[in-house]
Amino acid sequence: MCGIVGYTGNANAAEILVNGLKNLEYRGYDSAGIAVLNENKLNSYKSKGSLDMLEDKLANNGKIVAGTGIGHTRWATHGVPSDFNSHPHSDCNGKITIVHNGIIENYQVLKKELLTKGHKFDSSTDSEVVVHLLEDLYEGDMVQALIEVDKLIEGSYAIVAISEDEPETIYGLKKDSPLVAGIGREENYLASDIPALLSKTKDFYIFEDDEIAKVNREKIEFYGLNGKLLEKDVFEADWDADMVDKKGYDHFMLKEINEQPDVARRIMADRFTETDIDLGDIEEILAGDYKKIMITACGTAYHSGVIGRFLIEEFADIPVDVEVASELRYKKNFIDKNTLMVVVSQSGETADTLAALRLAKKQGAKVVALTNVIGSSVDREADSSFQLMAGPEISVASTKAYVAMVLVFYLLALKLGNLNNNISKARLKELIAGLKRLPYRIQETISEFDEISKEIAESIKDYKSVFFIGRNIDYALALEGALKLKEISYIHAEAHPAGELKHGSLALIEDGVPVFAITTRENVAMKTLSNIEEVMARGGQVNLITAKNIEYDKIEVDNKLILPEMDNIWSSVLAAIPLQLISYYTALELERNIDKPRNLAKSVTVE
Ligand code: F6R
Repeated sequence: MCGIVGYTGNANAAEILVNGLKNLEYRGYDSAGIAVLNENKLNSYKSKGSLDMLEDKLANNGKIVAGTGIGHTRWATHGVPSDFNSHPHSDCNGKITIVHNGIIENYQVLKKELLTKGHKFDSSTDSEVVVHLLEDLYEGDMVQALIEVDKLIEGSYAIVAISEDEPETIYGLKKDSPLVAGIGREENYLASDIPALLSKTKDFYIFEDDEIAKVNREKIEFYGLNGKLLEKDVFEADWDADMVDKKGYDHFMLKEINEQPDVARRIMADRFTETDIDLGDIEEILAGDYKKIMITACGTAYHSGVIGRFLIEEFADIPVDVEVASELRYKKNFIDKNTLMVVVSQSGETADTLAALRLAKKQGAKVVALTNVIGSSVDREADSSFQLMAGPEISVASTKAYVAMVLVFYLLALKLGNLNNNISKARLKELIAGLKRLPYRIQETISEFDEISKEIAESIKDYKSVFFIGRNIDYALALEGALKLKEISYIHAEAHPAGELKHGSLALIEDGVPVFAITTRENVAMKTLSNIEEVMARGGQVNLITAKNIEYDKIEVDNKLILPEMDNIWSSVLAAIPLQLISYYTALELERNIDKPRNLAKSVTVE
């Protein structure tokens, strides 16, 4: 979603802002802008479209000399993508300007009052009320004005402001939307996300809600809502700037698919004894006595949770509910102190997931988070966190973080099963040996299915609809396969429990319609094979993704993708890979914007 960068120092602020924003392009945006303080005058440059278009605009304005500025990439919520709705937004006199991520929920009421007072608005955004409020409340002390603004606005916000009165200072305030301060040498930064600044610094202060930062070249000060100075710890990021490079791949998505063997290795390094798994800090919470487990997440992370449910129920014999986070707080949830809540979020900032986490804590549940971003809101607010260690995921379509989530659910399920004495030592030993082999099998799967994935992509690219079927854990994979395909190729894709097809959607199967069937589990594979027959009888094109030891010979399908041989338990990890590759190559055939699909954002910080 929207991205923010702020800078103050001796370098060329415009260049630093645009480069920082480029590092956040992956989050998705539809317009961009910067404001810089040039000889104590505020100048804004904004453009609908890409950062390249903003750069053209900047180039047309000659050399912009400025040491302080703020920049923003906007993902439209209130008001269409346009130059005038782009941030930064300035007050009536053009003396103060702000950028904002999030949503100001009470902006209509505030705007009405501000209009009555004579303020002039230039945009149809919710964000613009913030700068007019600052204009009203500023009496020479920006920290105080931001404290007052914080009391008036409702919703989620990361706000960065500059003013002509203090040409070398940038200010930040946040609630429910991430903001960090980057520590440099005689220069300092603000940004919505750490990757924006990784090429500049590894040292950060992470904002807590309702904290205000005053940032100038020499120092960064944090204030609470009572106006008192706060002590903050420095957070050292362990991601490298080159981790956000394409490293020769055409797209981040393909690079990230190929990183999956290493991700698996990192997750599993130093975790195993012969018959036990070390899950670090979260073990204390796992050892509690729970009546049930609830998993909550959104999108792809939710799909990993559906797999998690099957695994935990199978290995640990504990009932598990899995809920879409955006739905959880609008239903009766039965969460209490006897519930172990597992919250899954790659970014750790997904607004709905965060809201579900807070609700669970409020109702007394213990919360374990699985997240890829240390220091993210989910990471900090959970009782304990497990790091997915996938490294920065830049492609909007999640691949390596998804596989990391699935793997962590395996570890979690086996650990809980061991704690419950539900798995014999001998079986656990076998399973641990399987886990250790998994990175090699993931590598093999990527290499083996690259070519066939291209061929399948070519064969499905012109269809309007594609179906994915599977039963049990294979249905969870079908859900993810359909999401991956639709989000980057824009082909309509639906997943069904295989047995459900004949209760409606079979009506859509006709000559050539592509159907992906997944059969990795013996106990349901034969049933799914019958459903495949039903599809073939109607002329559907069947692509079967199957584990080696399933009796797939019984059926002649259009394409058979046979996963590398290993205990079928692990096939759910492996089966995800051809699904990712087929989606990637289909989107490539269709010349889609693979890493930044239309209308989508990497980190969904609004509800
Ligand atoms: C799709 C995808 C999304 C995310 C979802 C949750 O490929 O990545 O569906 O999984 O937006 O995001 P996180 O995991 O950051 O909470």
